[in-house]
Formats: sequence, structure tokens, C-alpha cells
Amino acid sequence: MKFSFHMPVRIVAGPHCVIENGALLKELGKKGFIMSGKSAAMNGSLNDMIMTLDAAGIPWVHFAGVKPNPSLQDVREAAEEARASGADFIVALGGGSPIDAAKAVAVLAAGSVTDQELLSRRRFDRVLPLAAVPTTAGTGSEVTPYSILTNDSLQTKSFLNSEQVYPRVAFLDGRYTRDLPPGTTAATVVDALSHAAEGYLAVRATPPARILALESLRIIGRALPVLVSGGALSADMRDELLYASMLAGIVIAQSGTTAVHALGYSLTYFKGLDHGLANGLLLAEYFRFLKKDRPEEIAAILGALGLTDIAMLDRTLGDLLGRITLTPVEIDRFAAIAIKAGNILNTRPQPSEEELKILLGNCFAR
Ligand SMILES: [Fe+2]
Repeated sequence: MKFSFHMPVRIVAGPHCVIENGALLKELGKKGFIMSGKSAAMNGSLNDMIMTLDAAGIPWVHFAGVKPNPSLQDVREAAEEARASGADFIVALGGGSPIDAAKAVAVLAAGSVTDQELLSRRRFDRVLPLAAVPTTAGTGSEVTPYSILTNDSLQTKSFLNSEQVYPRVAFLDGRYTRDLPPGTTAATVVDALSHAAEGYLAVRATPPARILALESLRIIGRALPVLVSGGALSADMRDELLYASMLAGIVIAQSGTTAVHALGYSLTYFKGLDHGLANGLLLAEYFRFLKKDRPEEIAAILGALGLTDIAMLDRTLGDLLGRITLTPVEIDRFAAIAIKAGNILNTRPQPSEEELKILLGNCFAR
């Protein structure tokens, strides 16, 4: 057995964990730059963070303008504000967009870095420390070294990937996820499902990450019937899903994502589909593509989810997420973009561009 496993994020979880752990924020610096989207003011996370920083005597500035799917330009603008504020650490409140934007700002506010360096370098001279508070159960970004940014020059999403952008601390309080609308809940849970499944199947999969993936899938599998029936998730189930999302984040931090994410980025960039929704619509067909070579692993994933076969997964995700169609021109274009993505190399068997077209056609052809 040969692998390496590195997970440098301190995780504290449970109700009121931000307020109870202000000392951890004091270790990060003397002035905080809080980054969020609009929902942080409503879900309680912003209030808790401000109370905690105030109680610790740490001054802060709030940047509330993080957009969904932040672009390189967006994070540069936020970094300018961070730099001007004199903050020496970042706090991210939100789903994947604020946390990923905060990671890029942590790099850009600390030094002079070009877009190309941001996306290609693994080491930077200086990066501001970061605390992350996930307010959706899906991204797992609170425990990954990745920041996924919209890259308009390539018309897709590009990665910042540096161990220096792992948050120093992640605060997991499921209360912040309790009022998420059903559509956001479904899309984010399916993103976590996709992380666990792709990480389990990735070329770079490792034994400990696979254990975490299966546990994450078991928890998500218990929530799927409730989500499909349109029922409300209990507070306990919300807590568990946040835990499952974090586990799936650790999985992709070790293993990376695969062809599903590579293809999903075009659905988000060109069709405006939510990231988790895009992945979810591709998953069943991806499993069909892999099944001939890897039947036992696909069975292990379906078994953990409590599903009998791929058709049942397809029905479940279809009921949960709906369906879209693509034109032949879109299918060709998205396959041509995805084949250049690094996560195709992390897919076994590695699909050709032609196979990506067939996979997209099976999912979305009219
Ligand atoms: Fe994802």
C-alpha cells in the first residue's frame, strides 16, 4: 500500500462553535477581512462571526459582495479592498463561492501575483491565513487546497491549487444551513455526493480517502429519499449533511475530481446551471461509462447510497434535479473544452473526446 495523506485544517463542529472558539481567530491575526455573499446576513453566520471578533477585540471589515462563481476579475477587486483595509487574515462565510474567492484573495492581497501565476503556482511568497465557515452542505471547500474561479479568457473554470490556501480553521455549524431553500439544498448535496463518488473512483484515490468517501455517501444516501419526496430535513440531518460534505471535501483534497467536474464546468459557464446540479445530471452516465471496467467499485458506491443500480440513481437524481437538453453543437463544444481539463487525467478509464461526446449525448441530446 502506497499513499500520502495530508489534512492541515483544524475543524471544530457543533452548534455555536464560532462563538465558543474565538481564541482560534485570535491566532490568525490582528484584523479580519470577512468575505460573504448576501445570505450570510440571514443565516446567522455573519452575526455570530461579528460577535466573536468583537468579543475577542479583533477589528474587522466586511466585504459582502462575493458573486456566485467568482471570476479572476472579481477576486482581484476584492483583494484590492482587503489590501486597502489593512486586514492580515481572511474569514469566509458561505458556500463554495465565498470560500473559494477568499482563498484567491488570501494570495492576491498578500503579494503581487499575475493571473497565470495564481492558477499555475503551488507556492507563493506570502498568503494571508484564512478561516472558513461553510453555510451550505456541498462544496467541502473549507477542507481543500482548491479555489475554483471563473476564467473568462478560457471560457471555463480554472483552479488555484496550493496547500497554502487550506483554511487554518473551519467552523461547522449546521444551524447556518437550516433555512436553505430546497433547490440549493439539493444541488449542494449532490455536489458533495459527486465529490465522494469521484474521489472514490479517481486515479489518485487513496485508501483512507475511500473510507471517508463511503461514509459520506452513506449519510447522503439517507437524506436522498427525504429530498426527493420534498420533505423537510431535520436539524440532525442538516448537521449530518454538513459533516458528509466536509468528509467529501477531504476526499477531493486528497484524490481530486474527475470527468464529471470537467464536463460540469461548461454546463455552469455556458448554460448557467448551478455547479452541483451540473455534476448531478452527469453522474449516472459517468457511472455507466466506468461500470464495464470497474463494476465492483460502482456497486460499492451505489450500495453506500442505498441504491440498487445505476437506473435507480438516474431516476433519483432526475426527480431531484430535473433535466436539460443540449444541441449537438453544444455537446461537441463542451467535450472539446473538457478534454483539456486536468481532471480528465484523473479519470480511469480515461475518456477520449469522442467518448465525452457520447457521454454528454446520452445525458442531454434532444
Ligand atoms: Fe464540486
